[in-house]
Amino acid sequence: MTALLQIDSSPRAASVSSRLAAAFVEKWKQQNPGGTVFHHNTSLERLPYLDENAIDAFFTPAAERTAAQKSALAFSDQMVDELLAADVVVLGAPMWNLSIPASLKAWIDLIVREGRTFAFTAQGVAPLVPPGKRVYVFSARGGAYPAGTPFHDFDHQEPYLRRILGVIGLTRIEFVYAEHQAEHQSGDPGAAVQGLARAESALAALAV
Ligand SMILES: Cc1cc2nc3c(=O)[nH]c(=O)nc-3n(C[C@H](O)[C@H](O)[C@H](O)COP(=O)(O)O)c2cc1C
Repeated sequence: MTALLQIDSSPRAASVSSRLAAAFVEKWKQQNPGGTVFHHNTSLERLPYLDENAIDAFFTPAAERTAAQKSALAFSDQMVDELLAADVVVLGAPMWNLSIPASLKAWIDLIVREGRTFAFTAQGVAPLVPPGKRVYVFSARGGAYPAGTPFHDFDHQEPYLRRILGVIGLTRIEFVYAEHQAEHQSGDPGAAVQGLARAESALAALAV
């Protein structure tokens, strides 16, 4: 089975990051007509934050888990199953306060699972996600944080996503940025149009 996992995280109907992610997914579907798409919007679905039950269940061996612990892990298990089944992962990730929306972090907390997506070893943490999966991150942001500018270090989104996804074994990651997308802040509406056009041509150039 060929499968794609699409995780959007903007609550906005006019979301630029979700629109770019959807355009990529359409392209992928054309190339993979029989493929399966798993799709969530972490913000609209209000993904749960980890509570004490879930954390206890994480660190209880599977064979010893109580019914309540299994139930606390059911949604996390579903999220991990979908991730493991997917060949391609697409994230629609607005920049919020220099990083990702809290609801996308909630998804990360559900899928970074000891024994399922990573293991503790004598040498440290080892990834358990099989190699080869590709990840595409479509990030809309109000500003721009290009390398070589003083703003580059303010971007805590790309370094964080690369690091945490790398922990579980997702290392083939491409970022597409739609810059200057804060309609209410920009004194230059042309910058938003240009930022979107650049993102669309980067998307068109991506191999599916
Ligand atoms: C709560 C919030 C925080 C934001 N923080 C930043 C920020 O730190 N840096 C930035 O460049 N843009 C920031 N923005 C602007 C958004 O990244 C921009 O509007 C983007 O288009 C939102 O993505 P979306 O269109 O997919 O919803 C913020 C927007 C919101 C709503």
